[in-house]
This record gives sequence, C-alpha cells and structure tokens, in this order.
Amino acid sequence: MPFFRIVAAGLAVVLMLASDSFAQKTATAEKSDTDDRYSRRANHDPNGIGKFYMGREIAHVMGFAGARWLERTEREEEERLTLLVRSLKLKPGMIVADIGAGSGVISILMAEQILPDGKVMAVDIQQEMLDRLADNCKKRGVTNVVPVKGKIKSPNLKTGTVDLIILVDVYHEFEFPYEMKQEMSKSLKPGGRIAWVEYRKEDRTVPIKLVHKMSEAQVKREASQEGLGLKFVETIDVLPRQHIVIFEKANE
Ligand SMILES: C[S@@+](CC[C@H](N)C(=O)[O-])C[C@H]1O[C@@H](n2cnc3c(N)ncnc32)[C@H](O)[C@@H]1O
Repeated sequence: MPFFRIVAAGLAVVLMLASDSFAQKTATAEKSDTDDRYSRRANHDPNGIGKFYMGREIAHVMGFAGARWLERTEREEEERLTLLVRSLKLKPGMIVADIGAGSGVISILMAEQILPDGKVMAVDIQQEMLDRLADNCKKRGVTNVVPVKGKIKSPNLKTGTVDLIILVDVYHEFEFPYEMKQEMSKSLKPGGRIAWVEYRKEDRTVPIKLVHKMSEAQVKREASQEGLGLKFVETIDVLPRQHIVIFEKANE
C-alpha cells in the first residue's frame, strides 16, 4: 500500500475515535444533569451558564454591579419604558408582581398607576438589588412597592393573588425556568396575565448579547408548555428593542 494511503487511513481512524469520544463525553455531560428537562454542554456561549432549556442557553444573572446600567437616563429613549408601562393596561387596585425587579426602575413606574389600593410585589433573588430598590422607593416617596426575596425556583408569592406578572429582561436568566413558570402560574388569579418583555432576537441591530435576547417564537413555545395552564393573548410590538408577549391564566 502506498505510504500516503496508510497515513490517510490512520488519520481517519484517529478522527473517528476522537469524534466518538467527543460524542460520549457530551452524552455523559448531558445525562449527568440532575433534571432531564435541562442539559449541560461544555461548548457554549461565554455569556451563558452552559445549561440549556428547550433549545436555548440560559444566561448569567446580571449582578448588582449592573444596577446603574438599569437606571441610566438614556434608558427611556432606548427602551421607551413609559410606553411599556402604558401597554400593560394597569388599573387602580391591581396586584402586580415585577419578577426580577432589579433596582426597581419598572416597579416605581408602575406603582403610581395602580393607586390607591394597588401594590407592586417587587421580587428579586439578590438582596443588594432589593435594598437599592427600597432606597429608590424611599427617595421618590413611593409606598406601595413591597420588596420580596425570591428563590431561584420560586418567586415566593401567595397562590392565586396576582393580577399581572411582568418579566422585564429577566426570564432568559432564570436558572430553573420550568419551576419558575409553574410557581408564577400558581400565583396568578384566574384570568391573571404574564407579560414577557425580552430583547428581540430576530433583530440583529438590537445591541444586546445573544443569550440575553429571546425570539417571540421561543417565548411562545416556553410559555405555552403543557401543564402550566397559560394561553397566548397577544404580542405587543410597540417598543424599539423588546417585544411584549402576553399570556393569560386559563380559568380552571
Ligand atoms: C437584567 S436585570 C432586570 C431588572 C429589571 N427588570 C429592569 O428591567 O430594570 C435581571 C434581574 O433579575 C434577577 N433574577 C434573576 N433570576 C431571578 C429569579 N429566579 N427570580 C427573581 N429574580 C431573578 C436578577 O437578580 C436581576 O436583578
């Protein structure tokens, strides 16, 4: 056999063995996750945590250092927050849960719209964010925002008490999206709504890292998962960078 053929055959065997061992490693890594709803991959986006759910990678949680970015003055022009809040059709007396409230920018904008009896339950898993949120409310004289310490699998809200849940730029960071959806759905009153507000992945010009964006189709797929009791209502496309995808709790 000519020399070059022997070398080529040897190379093919090495490549086959290498790809087999890669496939085995990937399979082992995916199986080793504690829950088969989720999988783990070694090869992933550096802005993600290497954990995958329904075909997308979960993003890193924005740390407390990001609070000033959330409060930047240009945000109104870039994201039209007042228009976002107007689109939610808030009414006096509503109980609104702002899950992943951060330093409270959106909670504070919503608080006035639901007076005199309404309340915003401002949920976050980072105590520093909740402390800053409480300070921000105090500075502005806002008294109907209640800070709530959430857990990674639950927003810690009472069953059947919430009219509207709003998720602004947070759902893609949930480490346990399935468990969070179950708990959020439980906390809603019949007919209560969830508004997913996510940066549009379909739009390459939106200047946000890929794993921090979600397409409308992906949001709809995840929100309409069986067993959650949620049904699609509408997508509101009035914002420059995000879509607002609304689901409603079906009457049991
Ligand atoms: C990018 S910030 C958005 C803050 C706020 N919604 C805003 O737009 O100004 C995301 C926030 O979600 C919080 N978060 C992440 N996972 C969470 C979870 N499972 N439950 C509650 N909050 C969570 C983070 O701590 C962070 O403060």
